[in-house]
Amino acid sequence: MISKLWGGRFTQPTDKFVEEFTASIGFEQRLGSYDIQGSKAHAEMLGRQGIISVAEAQQIIAGLDEILSDIEAGKMEFSVALEDIHMNIEAQLIERIGAVGGKLHTGRSRNDQVAVDIRLYLRDEIDTILDYLKKMEAALIQQAEKNLDIIMPGYTHLQTAQPVLYSHHMLAYREMISRDSSRLSDLRARFNLMPLGAGALAGTTFPIDREWTAEKLGFDGVTRNSLDSVSDRDFAIEFCSFAGILMMHLSRLSEELILWSSADFNFIELSDAFCTGSSIMPQKKNPDVPELVRGKTGRVYGNLMSLLTLMKSLPLAYNKDMQEDKEPLFDTIDTIKGSLKIFAAMVVEMKVKGDNMRVAAARGFSTATDVADYCVRKGLPFRQAHEVVGKTVRYCVETGKDIPELSLDEFRQFSELIEEDIYASVTLEASVNARKATGGTAREAVERELARLKSS
Ligand code: ARG
Repeated sequence: MISKLWGGRFTQPTDKFVEEFTASIGFEQRLGSYDIQGSKAHAEMLGRQGIISVAEAQQIIAGLDEILSDIEAGKMEFSVALEDIHMNIEAQLIERIGAVGGKLHTGRSRNDQVAVDIRLYLRDEIDTILDYLKKMEAALIQQAEKNLDIIMPGYTHLQTAQPVLYSHHMLAYREMISRDSSRLSDLRARFNLMPLGAGALAGTTFPIDREWTAEKLGFDGVTRNSLDSVSDRDFAIEFCSFAGILMMHLSRLSEELILWSSADFNFIELSDAFCTGSSIMPQKKNPDVPELVRGKTGRVYGNLMSLLTLMKSLPLAYNKDMQEDKEPLFDTIDTIKGSLKIFAAMVVEMKVKGDNMRVAAARGFSTATDVADYCVRKGLPFRQAHEVVGKTVRYCVETGKDIPELSLDEFRQFSELIEEDIYASVTLEASVNARKATGGTAREAVERELARLKSS
């Protein structure tokens, strides 16, 4: 039987089912290398401070390095009886280097150990995710650059509103992803502080040097209160909240791509590599990837709810409940990495059907606002101009005509201010290109924005 690292106080063995129920080793193996990274720094600090001898610290570090190679080679055997990643590694260390391995846990508790492990792990993952977000931004920018000639309908209430450049639409998503990156960088900076040294909850009686260990592990400093250090999971919640917002953005893009690839919109074609067929309907090409990303948004929101609920009302300091923080966090990380990776690739390969977008952009009286703005430029107050164009549109509906098809006489039934130059104002190009101010959809404004993005 494997002997427990905390066996001293107990006279009876743990019930087998309780052992399985309480163990976290099944889902936290991914923390292994971070646990070792934290332990090596801790051991070195113990040696430097004379809490253990330097030779002992070296032996411990060498042992941990061996375990790390075994973990990386997939050779390490984990045991449920040893409950979690921390005790599995420590027991393995003692098995390899003998009793001196038992000195590693001096001045430390699993409570501050797990807190440091998750932070190291999450920090690493955040750096990867920041990179994925950059690639997603680049994919959207590339789509925008490549399709500057395409005009599509802009919608409000999913009703045709005003024509916009497709590039402008893509860059709207770039804005969202760029805010996601900035949120992620913010939270990374906030939690990059080292909790080791908090011990179980009250600190440690040994003369440790927390600042040294923090620097060694790449933290910007140390946490300031031992009770908070072992019971804080704000960073995981903040991360899941960032992830929820990111998935909300991806779900909006997903929804548009799904609509746009339908026969009714017919605005884009997703590459075959990202779609599947139907086993019964031979004509089908289903937009599975955006559909799944839209669906996975649910589990990411759920993970945020799990963590908030997990932490709600927990008394200070560590509680075993908190072991439940890992699966939602890990699942969130896996889900957003997968979604971002596949989306960046899919967006780059997306084919845009510019002609269809253009036809749709011309429907639905999309240049009505331009007629109103025209009247305003001729001196009519906007409210009256709105009325004039409202009547014009009603006339168009009744006669089955589109705004640019009206004769000058027809236009002038509604306002004498309208002259021959109206026609130049109601083309799709004129409508789009009139919106030149920063943030507008005019080609020159979009080109300026692209240039700014490239130079930043
Ligand atoms: N596996 C535990 C967790 O994930 C590690 C900390 C255990 N601490 C304790 N006092 N039982 O939270």
